[in-house]
Amino acid sequence: MHDFFYKDNELYCEKVRVRDIAEKTGTPVYIYSYKTFVEHLEKIQKAFRPIKPLICYSMKANSNLAILKSLVQKGSGLDIVSGGELYRAKKAGCPPERIVYAGVGKTAEEIEEALRSGILLFNVESVPELETINRIARRLKKIANISLRVNPGIDPQTHDHIATGKAESKFGMDMETAEKIFLSPGHYKALCLCGVHVHIGSQIVTGQPFIEAFWKVLSFIDELAKEKVKIKYLNLGGGLGVIYSTENPQTADEFAKNVLPLFKGRQYQVIFEPGRFISANGGILVGKVLYIKQTKVKNFAIVDTGMHDLIRPTLYGAHHEVWPLAKDEKAAKWVYDVVGPICESGDFLAKDRHIQELKADDYLAFMTAGAYGFVMSSNYNSHPRPAEVLVSGKQFAVVRKRETVPSLVAGETIPDFVSK
Ligand code: LLP
Repeated sequence: MHDFFYKDNELYCEKVRVRDIAEKTGTPVYIYSYKTFVEHLEKIQKAFRPIKPLICYSMKANSNLAILKSLVQKGSGLDIVSGGELYRAKKAGCPPERIVYAGVGKTAEEIEEALRSGILLFNVESVPELETINRIARRLKKIANISLRVNPGIDPQTHDHIATGKAESKFGMDMETAEKIFLSPGHYKALCLCGVHVHIGSQIVTGQPFIEAFWKVLSFIDELAKEKVKIKYLNLGGGLGVIYSTENPQTADEFAKNVLPLFKGRQYQVIFEPGRFISANGGILVGKVLYIKQTKVKNFAIVDTGMHDLIRPTLYGAHHEVWPLAKDEKAAKWVYDVVGPICESGDFLAKDRHIQELKADDYLAFMTAGAYGFVMSSNYNSHPRPAEVLVSGKQFAVVRKRETVPSLVAGETIPDFVSK
């Protein structure tokens, strides 16, 4: 599943001892395994080979340039959601015909830049957005490929914050609205209405919600076909769940086995946008114990990282395994809350965990942090963001320098009227 493992009680990433990295770069540090990232991409590519899908890695999960380049070189496209992500995608050398652009709030500037770049497809989420793209494309004398994101009204049985396919969510449009648009193509002279997009949520561990959503979309497309509307692109989103603790999600092969029969006799260019599936297991966050604090009711391991570096535990109640870099099997197990330095009670990385007895300066790894980890980090309480390191075999490289304290105030000025 991933390439982090113990050898002689020391945690390794591929062929590198994680402690050697931590000592060189300092902590906190995100560490990624090249092999794990690429193998997860290849798992989906292989499983779906019969229908030759375009896999557009959803770069919101982890958008470090070195990660993007690694995946793009292995044939991945990219799913973007902002002008910033488009910039990164281009910097990583992603061919524009492998870029798809989603999101409910694309600005006119972002749309123009994407059109000029010649991306493959806009996944459109509302009528006003469609009109904006049409207007800009006309001005630029371009034709924009459009896929309409439909909201199938399905509960994907995941955390509420990351369920996107329910009727009350802000994402996509209902099928009647989408149908009306498809049936009035003359209205949008600069658009090619040729795709359907569906993405019902994230960290979905069972197959059923996917099948239900895909069925709904396919019968929608069949209805459109009766009206002579031809669909070329079918974008099936991301959402595949991964193992954080005891989950038992479907593998890429199981997913393909369930989904491929739905496409028998159909000729679309299928697009998938997995984010977490490709990146979650490939990364860890490493921090160091600063203090052990015992109260009447708790043992706290206070570490030099926290919700500002990895917000998932406090935002979603997410579970990340805590592995000491140096394992001591004989040590007594204690029950700890692993907490950070931030002045919020929500600043925890793990609660009530049985971990070997810890002391100051021990290193800890927070597992499965390759997706939605660094990208959701902040400078709250004026902490510089961690470094990021990529490992491949025996080699490793810092792929993003640790931020410095002066860089935190680099864009700030004190105007005369306050200093006088
Ligand atoms: N496509 C679209 C249109 C999306 O909105 C997303 C994720 C994906 C693909 C990729 O989904 P994935 O394969 O990674 O499940 N921060 C949250 C997850 C937010 C997901 C947002 N959209 C977390 O840490 O769990």
